[in-house]
Amino acid sequence: MQGLIDCVSILSEMPAVQMPRVVFGKGILESLGVEASSLLASAGKKAEGSKALLVTDEEVAARFSGRVEEALKSAGLETEVFRGVKPEPSLEVAESVAEFARRTSPDIVVGLGGGSVLDMAKVASAAVTNEKPAREFLGANKIERRPVPKILMPTTAGTGAEATPYALVVVEGKKKAIASPYNLADVAFLDAELTATMPPRVTASTGMDALSHALEALMSKGANPLTDAFAYAAIFKVAANLERAFSSPQDLDARLEMALAAFLAGVAFGNAGVVLGHAIAHTIGTRYSQPHGVATALTIPYVMEFNASVPEVAAKLKCVASAFGEDVSSLSDADAAAKAVAHAQSMLQRLELPRCLADLDVSREDLPAIADAVLAEKGYLARNPREVNRENLLALLERMHAGF
Ligand SMILES: [Fe+2]
Repeated sequence: MQGLIDCVSILSEMPAVQMPRVVFGKGILESLGVEASSLLASAGKKAEGSKALLVTDEEVAARFSGRVEEALKSAGLETEVFRGVKPEPSLEVAESVAEFARRTSPDIVVGLGGGSVLDMAKVASAAVTNEKPAREFLGANKIERRPVPKILMPTTAGTGAEATPYALVVVEGKKKAIASPYNLADVAFLDAELTATMPPRVTASTGMDALSHALEALMSKGANPLTDAFAYAAIFKVAANLERAFSSPQDLDARLEMALAAFLAGVAFGNAGVVLGHAIAHTIGTRYSQPHGVATALTIPYVMEFNASVPEVAAKLKCVASAFGEDVSSLSDADAAAKAVAHAQSMLQRLELPRCLADLDVSREDLPAIADAVLAEKGYLARNPREVNRENLLALLERMHAGF
């Protein structure tokens, strides 16, 4: 996915961090109208008589669409709803949301759902002001005119799509990126209540996706001191709250902390990029039809271990072990990194997630073909701190197959 890498480098020549305005809380949906009004005011428009486009999917619409429309109506906005987003959206889905957006011509777009929905809300807001097919948005910096404002409201806590400048679309079986600073949300709206209906398995896998974003951003060659700060904060919050949210779904304090963790990790990887773990996860996820979070969760301990031979990474993993709650004060960086790896392994166990490739019914005979597909993900590998070649990658995949 070369687009991601290009985007990270086109955002700025200098180390920098870009992020949206973020509002957060427990049960704050009613304040959506105020946020929409103030965004419209900054574009020189009145909320009264303006039109919002709500981009969502059938399942989320059934739970929350009415309340969102009500909140927008209280500020004077009328709402059109596009509820046709599918998981891992294809180019056809992107084209249909773009066409709907052009036809309804909204003044503001609101995305409500998981990462796929939020990505399609980005496409919708760009389509209103850019008259070309969504296919031509693919790649880096292909959105030429400023989109209409957008508010992104995640209903899972993991993808970080509300914080990143990417929208992912599946084209001929491969994930491709629309990478543009114009994809950044104007407002990321984090309401813990919206994530409280996630079933435990989705809570676990999406939460571990957030952890993988933070860890990979930390290990990435694109990291800088600010992305590191966001990444460590995310790791600390995941360590303290993911298992609470998993075992007590209605714990809104834990849900809010996880929503913040996903956002923080999104800022970290949106600016520093992700590395080897996501190259493997995308390959496994597409080939074996595994949810993104399940595939990324599985890679976490193995990729940490693989990269820990780089001294700078081992030093960072010592801080990670500490954020995980391990006492590593008297340990060398290498021994502390091993503790961080062991802690990540135990999280997979406690969250009842697959722990090895064999758990996903991946046959050992498939490993060479998987290695070839991962090696083709050059953008991710270029940012990995340790050089990845066919030999060390195959050894890593063998280890992932056997498990710990
Ligand atoms: Fe991810």
